[in-house]
Amino acid sequence: MKGFAAAFSVLALYLAWHAPNDGEKVPADELPMSAALAQGASEVATAGASAPLASSTASAAVTPSASVAASEQATAAAAGGSAAGTGGPAGGAGSNADGAAPMGAAMTDLVKRGEYLARAGDCIACHTADKSRPFAGGLPMGTPFGTLYTPNITPDPDTGIGRWTDAEFLRAMQKGIGKGGQHLYPAFPYTEYTRVTERDLLAIRAYLNTLTPVRYTPPRNELAFPFNQRWLMFFWNVFNFREGRFVPDPKQSPQWNRGAYLVEGLAHCEECHTPRNFTQGLSSSDRFSGEVQAGWHAFNITPDKAGGIGNWSEQDIVDYLAKGAVPGRANAAGPMADVVENSTQYLTSDDLRSIAVYLRSVPPVAGGQTRPRDAFGHPADDVSRLRGTRVAGVDGAQLFVANCASCHNWTGQGVGASAPLAYPSLIHNSAVGAPDAGNLAMVILHGVNRRTKDADVMMPGFGDELNDDQVAAITNYVTQHFGDPKATVTAQEVAKLRRQQQ
Ligand code: HEC
Ligand code: HEC
Ligand code: HEC
Repeated sequence: MKGFAAAFSVLALYLAWHAPNDGEKVPADELPMSAALAQGASEVATAGASAPLASSTASAAVTPSASVAASEQATAAAAGGSAAGTGGPAGGAGSNADGAAPMGAAMTDLVKRGEYLARAGDCIACHTADKSRPFAGGLPMGTPFGTLYTPNITPDPDTGIGRWTDAEFLRAMQKGIGKGGQHLYPAFPYTEYTRVTERDLLAIRAYLNTLTPVRYTPPRNELAFPFNQRWLMFFWNVFNFREGRFVPDPKQSPQWNRGAYLVEGLAHCEECHTPRNFTQGLSSSDRFSGEVQAGWHAFNITPDKAGGIGNWSEQDIVDYLAKGAVPGRANAAGPMADVVENSTQYLTSDDLRSIAVYLRSVPPVAGGQTRPRDAFGHPADDVSRLRGTRVAGVDGAQLFVANCASCHNWTGQGVGASAPLAYPSLIHNSAVGAPDAGNLAMVILHGVNRRTKDADVMMPGFGDELNDDQVAAITNYVTQHFGDPKATVTAQEVAKLRRQQQ
């Protein structure tokens, strides 16, 4: 323990020494990124304007000309390696002879960029328990070792991160070390955020600084011994964490590099989509091949034609991330609905396309599948047998007609075809055609809730009305007719899914 403490003191000294110099230069590791970042910076100026968060001063009107000027400045800065993004308000505008107005514009631009990047990183999802207190934390996160509560990251000086220096913020994001030098738990995806440039992280900090401070202390963590010993994370990190910024691959296009930077960094897609090893670290051999968390299967999104999404077009991936629905393939429910709602719907179409380009290049993993999830199903034609018959016990067909057919039609083909607010067909739907029926049962228990710019999508949950036997019966009826007939659940499995913390 002593050596350990000493190591941290050295680290603290190192940081204290380097912090005052941080504003002066863009770290060398960011320079090759300049092309991709310049591209990102100019997009943000236009995209950020569309949907500001309620409490942010970033929404203070920027005239189009001012925002163009600011974005040009940011672009030039990123390309030229100067420090517009790192030095706070004075950093980019100090040399500008026009004085106050451009300085304000540079700050607004920085904050807007930060808001965009915070959305790409989906900070709000984990750091919000109560929607009226965004970023104030308190969300319980179930882990195999107990429950963690997310901290308050509003600028409140006492309960939030108002007193944190930029260096402390960077250290948390890139090294997973808290203000007091303690190890943070990897439920906080610093394992991915470590790849994000200092320039982007400081933009996020600048944005967080503009939030309304919320005075709120989240509950204490409930972790069993020995997992309440933060220093043990040192060993976890040795096995599962490589600190370091994203290194662009010069053999790939700027678009691919931008996609890789987002997916492997801020967007942390692997946190849900990559299987975990026995220490709960991400497995490096079958990345993106799918994992189950809190009852939801984050499907295989490698480009394998049968096991993954290899039969999706680039545009399908873009549409799914922008809207949460691709008719004839998939609808985003559960945690993915939240990702779309809080994060990916706000990304520019160029960034989404970059993500798609990158995803289509990762190694395909079949995982034993022979047929894509979205290639199952045929319309039901046997419902007439129910007419006039008295059904004994729990009957999936009857329950389906009573509870689901009003929206999805008794044939399963849905209502309203592919219109934005349509009730989707259950045929050729990835949750229904998946080799495991867990997501389907979760959709029946919890419904679908997804708000985007395009639509407010709502399917009611049936968890309160239907018991485990009934949910299992409907699930099995649906997979039998509209999906993969081999995917079944038992009432016991539904009971287990029901107990998952959402
Ligand atoms: C998947 C959930 C998740 C996401 C997404 C997430 N965080 Fe966190 N964050 C956590 C958890 C959990 C902790 C607490 C870890 C601990 O107690 O060791 C944490 C801790 C932090 C801390 C340290 C705060 C403190 O008081 O120690 C900061 C700063 C932080 N997060 C910022 C961010 C930012 C900025 C983003 C978005 C770019 C973000 N987080 C996204 C889960 C998340
Ligand atoms: C918080 C966990 C989580 C994160 C983070 C996450 N996903 Fe997902 N994803 C899921 C879940 C769960 C599903 C299944 C949703 C369903 O069945 O409706 C899913 C489904 C998908 C699908 C559809 C697959 C199919 O066949 O239906 C795609 C594509 C996808 N995610 C891409 C991404 C990308 C790209 C990212 C990063 C930007 C990402 N996901 C981040 C949990 C997550
Ligand atoms: C009030 C209308 C309504 C009812 C009733 C309803 N649904 Fe839905 N369902 C929806 C909507 C809306 C969506 C989401 C559409 C979207 O994502 O754009 C949906 C989505 C789904 C999905 C796709 C989820 C995914 O992750 O891909 C499945 C499966 C599903 N419903 C099954 C059922 C079953 C089974 C029942 C009966 C227990 C049912 N629904 C009852 C409206 C309804």
